[in-house]
Amino acid sequence: MMTDPYTRAAAAAESIRSRARERPTLAIILGSGLGEFAREVENATAIDYAEIPGWPISTVEGHSGKLILGTILGVRVAVMQGRVHAYEGYSMNEVTFPMRVLGLLGCTAAIVTNAAGGINTSYSTGTLVSISDHINLTGSNAALGPNEPRFAIKPGAGQRFFDMSTAYSPRLRALAHAEAERQKIPLPEGVYLAVLGPSFETPAEIRAFRKLGADLVGMSTVHEVLVARHMGMEVLGISLVTNMAAGIVAQPIDHREVMEIGRRAAVQFTNLIKALLPQVASAVAEDASAG
Ligand code: HPA
Repeated sequence: MMTDPYTRAAAAAESIRSRARERPTLAIILGSGLGEFAREVENATAIDYAEIPGWPISTVEGHSGKLILGTILGVRVAVMQGRVHAYEGYSMNEVTFPMRVLGLLGCTAAIVTNAAGGINTSYSTGTLVSISDHINLTGSNAALGPNEPRFAIKPGAGQRFFDMSTAYSPRLRALAHAEAERQKIPLPEGVYLAVLGPSFETPAEIRAFRKLGADLVGMSTVHEVLVARHMGMEVLGISLVTNMAAGIVAQPIDHREVMEIGRRAAVQFTNLIKALLPQVASAVAEDASAG
């Protein structure tokens, strides 16, 4: 029998709880080429996505598919190494199932990362960008369907019509900028525009997206952020520019290059995210004790 998304997510959360005792407080979703960050997890319990009931499994090369629970610098984390995308044929409900499970597991904040094409010409390949806002041009919305208030993890969350005006947390972005400055890593802010994919864009599309106000283009993130905000989770989004978007440089876009840039930028990415974790965790914990 088909059960509703909440019941399925709750069952997955229960199955994860039975295998890893500590409750994670912070979710980290690793984008294409950024999977190596998972090595930073100590006291790790790695669970294959295939072993979690209802969890969707990726078909793309470069997304290995494990949920890793443990600690990084003392922060209890749940790290998603790999994610599924709508272009693989998954429904929005399936794409966002993991984020909902992580919310139900106890994560009150999420760091969502991705590989993106650079539209803003001040970026170059390898630039890390803090996402300030997004434009959802995928033509769908992960919160479609009957509203499910049981997904709320905070008072006031779980509404039918929920606010997206500060989807990417201003205070977490401020922490990211301060940390990037300490580490002398450039971290511009940018608007992420999401397309369905799987084709890369045409140069005309990229010119149009620039006029719409986009700095980055990619095929993930927005739906996960939608359900995270519906639940009341706080979000920090970090993009790695793996290539300049179509038409900006006279060169075709190649998925292998996207993966290679990810590996090369891994050190900066790891240093930045790792140092941020205790800061994000304490910001979020203060909230919980105040509330
Ligand atoms: N377009 C869309 N998605 C992407 C790109 C791009 O150029 N690079 C990495 N993900």
